[in-house]
Amino acid sequence: MTDDPLADAGTNIVVSRGNPRARLLIVGEAPGPQENIKGKPFVGPAGQLLDKILQAAEFDSENDAYIINSVFRLPPGANGANFRKPNDKEIAFYRPFVFEIIRLVNPLIVLLTGNVACQSVLQKTGITSLRGKWIESDGRRLMPIFHPSYLLRNQSRAPGSPKSLMWDDMREVRRQYDALIKSA
Ligand code: URA
Repeated sequence: MTDDPLADAGTNIVVSRGNPRARLLIVGEAPGPQENIKGKPFVGPAGQLLDKILQAAEFDSENDAYIINSVFRLPPGANGANFRKPNDKEIAFYRPFVFEIIRLVNPLIVLLTGNVACQSVLQKTGITSLRGKWIESDGRRLMPIFHPSYLLRNQSRAPGSPKSLMWDDMREVRRQYDALIKSA
């Protein structure tokens, strides 16, 4: 696709992993170097933590979730860095694809990890105040949560720490998921 601002970026296109029939869909940021090589999202350190977070809430990342990113190619870094965050133009280009995947998979719950996923799907950022609150959209429940990479940089488990807030959010996700499955 010639108008893709990331058309020449990365080695592989990285779209999804997990179960396309899952009722839980997770939107990440962008492929990192390991995702770029494997062609699958969230297979590096942040992905390993995401799997653990899901497991703690009794979700299996391959069976119970479908996992995508906000952009599908590794944004190339400048000045020697090998990657960077996606910019506004890149996020906007991939937005219709993100929405189309959400429409096709038709999950009950969508988790938006970090500000880039919020910018892609909600067109707003501010993860610290958005996280943990449900947003209703097209008959689905959306919840912004912290990005696992943020938790990797903040290891404290003290009350009010990012890890402890994430655990509160995931307990709420599990509660809502069970309630929605029961009434589906
Ligand atoms: N890997 C991904 O695929 N997405 C992220 O957001 C971070 C790491």
